[in-house]
Amino acid sequence: MSSNLISKYNVPGPRYTSYPTVPYWDDNTFSASAWENSLKRSFQENREISLYIHLPFCESLCTFCGCNKRITKKHSVETPYIESVLREWDLYLEMLGEKPIIREVHLGGGTPTFFAPENLKFLLNMLFRKAERDCNTELSFEGHPNNTTKEHLKVLADLGFRRVSYGVQDYSEKVQKAIHRIQPFKNVKNATEQARETGFTSVGHDIIFGLPFQTKEDIIDTIEKTKQLMPDRIAFYSYAHVPWIKGNGQRGFKDSDLPGADEKREMYETGKKMLEEAGYIEIGMDHFALKTDSLYKAVEDKTLHRNFMGYTTSSGASMIGLGVSAISDSWYGFAQNEKSVETYQELIAEGIIPVFRGHILNEEDLVIRKHILKLMCRLETSWVAPEDYFEELPEVLIKLREMEADGLVSFSEKGLTIPEKGRPFVRNICMAFDLRMQAQKPNTQLFSMTV
Ligand SMILES: C[S@@+](CC[C@H](N)C(=O)[O-])C[C@H]1O[C@@H](n2cnc3c(N)ncnc32)[C@H](O)[C@@H]1O
Ligand code: SF4
Repeated sequence: MSSNLISKYNVPGPRYTSYPTVPYWDDNTFSASAWENSLKRSFQENREISLYIHLPFCESLCTFCGCNKRITKKHSVETPYIESVLREWDLYLEMLGEKPIIREVHLGGGTPTFFAPENLKFLLNMLFRKAERDCNTELSFEGHPNNTTKEHLKVLADLGFRRVSYGVQDYSEKVQKAIHRIQPFKNVKNATEQARETGFTSVGHDIIFGLPFQTKEDIIDTIEKTKQLMPDRIAFYSYAHVPWIKGNGQRGFKDSDLPGADEKREMYETGKKMLEEAGYIEIGMDHFALKTDSLYKAVEDKTLHRNFMGYTTSSGASMIGLGVSAISDSWYGFAQNEKSVETYQELIAEGIIPVFRGHILNEEDLVIRKHILKLMCRLETSWVAPEDYFEELPEVLIKLREMEADGLVSFSEKGLTIPEKGRPFVRNICMAFDLRMQAQKPNTQLFSMTV
């Protein structure tokens, strides 16, 4: 890819796990009761829900990490935290009035495997007791290869979990030292093999390019090692350098230790080529999957969806996020929980659903949300149907003319598609549709770079 295109389009931009993106949520549209009404509206249309459960604790801080986590070695935090999550679930059930049907559960973090297997078992059994689920319910979790034990895997497999994603990042010792995450290949190999032996049918690895001191050779070595294990899915993330997010621990290295934009792009292209040669198919942005994995099947069936967890196979059912900082999505609205563990637990103890900010979508937001979702999931969108048209569309298309001239988008009478050359710039294309961002003064400090 030409470095001219990179320098032209490499600007800070959202990853579009939602529209509007979190920094452009309009708090004026939001209140706890407006959020509850939006969820009830969605629930009346469809009783199916996805559950995201945020388990924030980690024993040790990785200095690259952009997730909401709490570092502690005290495992006495587990029980009170689980009690709060269960109480929060009760608050939602009381509000909804009827039993939901759980379509999907994802345990994220932080490190879900920080929790003892029997505590996870208790948490999940209690959650399931008050809802319906069936054999199609998809259960998945994020595991740390250093502390996911056979016992964790067995307990979760017995509960019906079939998908795990492991944080790998990079195998170079120098990079691992810089990011404060020592994790030899044998740990990942054990965790991967044990998951498969226990009955997990989809094992994912997260790999990051653009980490401090990382070189192209490190990417080649990391992917060579990954190929020995052939995970079913790979998230190949661009390192999001967002050190201004308070307390995220990204200050453990200097900016000058990070590879530049051209080097990063070369790492991505090298990695992508190696993965494709090994039989992986690129899915949307950041993701690769084997043809046997359900994520690939979702692309084929045009059912791929994107939400705060990234790409998923689940439909557009409402997502309820339980736990500190978790984000919920009713399609008509978003809400985020309190970010401090203490405040979260205090509010729950008072019987309050602990949302502190969010956004209720208006008609125009809903139309644009659909376009951005299609662009991110299918690399195309159209405005054939009258309900897909919005007043500012002609201006959006004018904004995309330059990208068209650069061969990054192509237009037809009633829609646009993103060719292979434009794929790395999908976030830039979504930005042309992002009226919420354009309406406000862009704050470039909010996002990582698009390329
Ligand atoms: C919650 S962690 C996964 C589970 C477990 N805590 C672990 O680290 O193994 C989620 C994933 O987000 C990705 N991630 C975290 N911070 C990131 C950043 N700043 N840029 C890109 N990816 C990041 C990492 O690949 C990480 O594996
Ligand atoms: S990468 Fe995972 S283990 Fe490391 S601090 Fe972030 S959430 Fe915790």
